Amino acid sequence: MKIAIAGSGYVGLVTGTCLAELGNDVVCVDIDKEKINKLNKGQVPIYEPGLDELIKRNKKEGRLSFTTDLKDAVKKSDIIFICVGTPPKDNGEADLSHVEAAARTIAEVMDKYKVIVEKSTVPVQTGEDVARTIKNYNKHNVKFDVVSNPEFLREGSAVNDFLNPDRIVIGADSEKAINMMKELYKPLKAPILVTNIKSAELIKHASNSFLATKISFINAIANICEKTGADVEKVAEGMGYDKRIGKAFLNAGLGYGGFCFPKDAEAFIRIAEKLGYDFKLLKAVQEINKEQKELFVKKIEKSLWILKKKRIAILGLSFKPNTDDMRFAPSIDIINALQKEGANIQAYDPEAMENAKKILKGVTYCKDAYEAAKGADALIILTEWNEFKELDLKKIKSLLNNPLIIDGRNIYGPAIMKKEGFKYISIGR
Ligand code: UDX
Repeated sequence: MKIAIAGSGYVGLVTGTCLAELGNDVVCVDIDKEKINKLNKGQVPIYEPGLDELIKRNKKEGRLSFTTDLKDAVKKSDIIFICVGTPPKDNGEADLSHVEAAARTIAEVMDKYKVIVEKSTVPVQTGEDVARTIKNYNKHNVKFDVVSNPEFLREGSAVNDFLNPDRIVIGADSEKAINMMKELYKPLKAPILVTNIKSAELIKHASNSFLATKISFINAIANICEKTGADVEKVAEGMGYDKRIGKAFLNAGLGYGGFCFPKDAEAFIRIAEKLGYDFKLLKAVQEINKEQKELFVKKIEKSLWILKKKRIAILGLSFKPNTDDMRFAPSIDIINALQKEGANIQAYDPEAMENAKKILKGVTYCKDAYEAAKGADALIILTEWNEFKELDLKKIKSLLNNPLIIDGRNIYGPAIMKKEGFKYISIGR
């Protein structure tokens, strides 16, 4: 099938590339000329395992191209995916202006039947606004259908998530559009849920909010563990054996970050509010998530007493491993709070330092974990990159000024760390 992707960010680029990999002719569009130039030269603007290789292969085989010309891409396509950003406004609501602009452009140029797919995360009922916009600007008066097909891609494993999904959700009212979407996803052999547009839109916000709830719940339990001497890792394991609960997403730590959970939960609270429902549960989930970082800073303060002029080594800056994404990363709030108290930060992250430099000023960026540890009064782990799990602990101890490790991701066992001669503080243990 012929596909156009409006918006080549994380979601658009992964979706477009993977649809090309499935044998479709895909053109990815973006207004950012520099990004498109880079992509045309074979340079991938984001760090996403496996994506580079897939882009190169599909480009070479002529199934994948990149352009800034949305109009031309729309004319040549049967299905157009709207993958533009829906960033949060100051009040937490999603800014849908890019979605509206894309819908308008699509409407103005389409000259035969098209399926227009909402891939971006949008509030429930946005499909109606998209359909109305397209109807209003439908210059050639052609037939069209709007479909909601939310993405469930995790950064760092987005390619794998696309090609091996738990489910595919298709929200549509027309048989023709449903059949085209089913055909498109047929090679993936995943369960396909067909429903109406509003339910599909809601599935996305409900899923992300439920996952955020799991994380805040286990972080709340971690705080009770710390007050009682219980071990949150064991509590989560014991809970997780129950199939109704499941083991996934019960890792206590610094709370959720990234561009999806914090913004989607906030947007969902606003959506509910507008619909006349006070989503108290989700408000508490967000509050616990914020508190979790504040409690972690208090732990550092308690261990070091005075932070002024202390040298603090930070391992990990990205919001989670295997990504260079710094958006809503817990490291930002934590480092800002430590700097405010006068601490000197020496940090290392395997991939996110270039992005971090734009956000976190006054930080000494180091070439590896050992350079960061050198002369530090404490070593703080903020992201669970695999390489931090395999550190030469004897070397780390000899480099630190004070053998104190405060681990926000529970990557080490307390007993081993004690044996290695560290004062080791973690979450909920
Ligand atoms: C998420 C959803 O998983 C994905 O389906 C959606 O499309 C986009 O948002 P992503 O933000 O890439 O994906 O990251 P994910 O791996 O889900 O982790 C989100 C955050 O939760 C991270 O900050 C992570 O550190 C945190 N987390 C996750 C925990 O603190 N504990 C856990 O047990 C799991």
